[in-house]
Amino acid sequence: MLNWEDPLAKFNEPAFKPQHEEHHPRAGDGIVSNEALMNTAGAAPVVNPTPPANEAVIAATPVEAFHEEEPETDLTGTGLEDIEMGAERIQVDDKKIINCRADLNQLVPFKYEWAWQKYLDGCANHWMPQEINMTADLALWRDPNGLTDDERTIIKRNLGFFSTADSLVANNLVLAVYKHITNPECRQYLLRQAFEEAVHTHAYQYCVESLGLDEGEIFNMYRELPAVARKAEWALPFTKHLADPNFHTGTAEHDQKLLRELIAFYVIFEGIFFYVGFTQILSMGRRNKMTGVAEQFQYILRDESMHMNFGIDVINQIKIENPHLWTESFQQEAVQMIREAVELETQYARDTMPRGVLGLNAPMFEEYLQFIANRRCSQIGLAEQYPGAGNPFPWMSEVLDLKKEKNFFETRVTEYQTGGALSWD
Ligand SMILES: [Fe+2]
Ligand SMILES: [Fe+2]
Repeated sequence: MLNWEDPLAKFNEPAFKPQHEEHHPRAGDGIVSNEALMNTAGAAPVVNPTPPANEAVIAATPVEAFHEEEPETDLTGTGLEDIEMGAERIQVDDKKIINCRADLNQLVPFKYEWAWQKYLDGCANHWMPQEINMTADLALWRDPNGLTDDERTIIKRNLGFFSTADSLVANNLVLAVYKHITNPECRQYLLRQAFEEAVHTHAYQYCVESLGLDEGEIFNMYRELPAVARKAEWALPFTKHLADPNFHTGTAEHDQKLLRELIAFYVIFEGIFFYVGFTQILSMGRRNKMTGVAEQFQYILRDESMHMNFGIDVINQIKIENPHLWTESFQQEAVQMIREAVELETQYARDTMPRGVLGLNAPMFEEYLQFIANRRCSQIGLAEQYPGAGNPFPWMSEVLDLKKEKNFFETRVTEYQTGGALSWD
């Protein structure tokens, strides 16, 4: 590992290899960067004195030949197209949430004020996991009589689920969703959200580290423990379609794929699959147990609720601009996905608390999930599926509305907005 303190001479030592030279181009590689070619041809300092024999062939090939072999890439609607000098200025009406052909590198004029506002709200809610005191949690965790086995199971399984789930969401955003949402203010929020997902994964890692848990056990749960694995397995096929480099929106079939994927991740993964775990951990905090972990989850829940609301706004905007996508059969499919998700998440509640704990039990969660699913359905314009389902956890709604209240654990004011402020002292 290099750092800024290293003497410059180190860069000239034979052992130092810049990363771009790790990969020696080979005939048949297909893509060879100009940088690699230049280095191989001797234009840059020679680091590896004995290049493989096949490099001699590459060094003798004119650079232009490689340019000619590069396949044409369609960058339309990505923001990476060539700059059109003197083109007409962007008007609000040129903007579209998907399949936009206008320049995507200009944030203003805003068309979707809600997206920009969510970006600002997300920044105002900035927090970092290390700001939360985990001392009491560690003492309780180490105390043999501090927690029951069932309570320990809840903590570990939820850290197991969320620690990889948030990475999955982040990868979905960056590798699948971002490219297909063709609007700069929405992309601005997506970038904020991607960072927040990194903060969440950091928070789970920070809990694991603070409690001295076996990180291998926690981070592998999603492929070792069926109860944790099922939800990730359910979601993965949706993101795979969109991450395929050959996938492009622009046909009704593909636009529906994008819409289906947004429902899978925003409405279901973040809007249903997170809620048993959040409720379990926050219940623990309300009973003054594992308050540091609970506070981390409380901040995460606040972020997640905004992610979900953003996703719902995007879905509804796509519907407004593309009403032909919202067919009867598509709606039925979306309902089916939501019903399946309620089943899966109810199963997760049973698996994580087989005997009932903290005054909670699986049937309460079943009703809660039906209540949430009704809300999700109506938020995207579908009929409610579970008539009469009530909310057994009204306090969860209070957690979601954290405006100016102190948090449950009275440790600090929840709505702090100083995270981004600089101190010059
Ligand atoms: Fe997250
Ligand atoms: Fe999220």
